[in-house]
Amino acid sequence: MESSEAARLDREFLALGVSCNLSLFPTSPLTPIISPMRNFLIDTDTASDDAVALIMALRYDDVRVEAITVVSGNVPVDQGLKNALYTTELCGADVPVYRGEAGPLKREAEYAQYYHGEDGLGDQGYPDPKGSAQPHHAVDAMIDTVRRFPGLTLVTLGPLTNVALAVQRDPETMATVGRCVVMGGAACTVGNVSPAAEFNIWVDPDAAKIVFDSAIPIEMVGWELSRHEANILAQDIEDIRAIDTPLAHFAIDCNDTVLKANLNETAGAGISLPDPVAMAIALDPTICTRKSAHFVDIETSSELTRGMTVVDQINVAGRDRNHAAWGKKVLSGRKTTVCWELDVAAFKSLLRKSLT
Ligand code: BDR
Ligand code: CA
Repeated sequence: MESSEAARLDREFLALGVSCNLSLFPTSPLTPIISPMRNFLIDTDTASDDAVALIMALRYDDVRVEAITVVSGNVPVDQGLKNALYTTELCGADVPVYRGEAGPLKREAEYAQYYHGEDGLGDQGYPDPKGSAQPHHAVDAMIDTVRRFPGLTLVTLGPLTNVALAVQRDPETMATVGRCVVMGGAACTVGNVSPAAEFNIWVDPDAAKIVFDSAIPIEMVGWELSRHEANILAQDIEDIRAIDTPLAHFAIDCNDTVLKANLNETAGAGISLPDPVAMAIALDPTICTRKSAHFVDIETSSELTRGMTVVDQINVAGRDRNHAAWGKKVLSGRKTTVCWELDVAAFKSLLRKSLT
């Protein structure tokens, strides 16, 4: 294939939000085999549900994970780093992993080891990974990766500290992200870490506000989508065990503490998998069966509602009476796509497929 033709195809695919490595293609002028890959960048506070989400992306057919950036959240950042490396190695994937921020922008670090285990992976005694992190900081890597793959899909599975710093440092580059699927928040419903807020947003609400105010096109997947029938219930656990691959057993074993904690914390039966739900929607947008765009703002000052994702669900933010609180947001015109409903069967089927 002529290089100008290759460049033209590359541009066309970029416009579609995908890119392709044309150097891999056969050269026949009649039947070029075009195999477009979607480029993903994943930011994660890698604990048990993050690990399962990473597996789903790493094993999805038309997706290439260009980089994994790790942030403090469920576990201290160095533990998250180990867990991300361990998971990529389990998948046999060769993806660069970068160490990011060790705590929120303005607050003390908070962890969720009560939920995911001391090591974040259910305290199963997994060995240390063989590989190590790349030398660059996650925020630099994030900006560089977005520059190299404009239109890429950014999936965030943890507090938004790394992403906020990238936005502050290079807002123009970060605005070229094609989709940003955020596992975070609770849209017009209860939180999981406080009555008002979901963990990822609650940990670093200041970062979340920067990201939700930015030009990045956000699709918010709140924790409520992973509740009730979306939990991995006894029959689902049996079905996954029956797949009988190392990945299938890992997905269940590393969520051992979550199985117990989910019951204690939320009275939910089964394993709650918020990150895999968000990843499923990132991989296959049809898995979100109802979504709409709204102004969304983040509470950063109240103790009572810290980290609440306030969704202008019935479009009243623009009224005069709300000018003081919402004027700036409304003027910016920046809305967030809120995912309201999940195709649970499709989610579980994608999950099982990724573990075979
Ligand atoms: C989110 O918080 C973490 O515990 C999970 O990994 C997920 O990202 C759910 O609130
Ligand atoms: Ca997470």
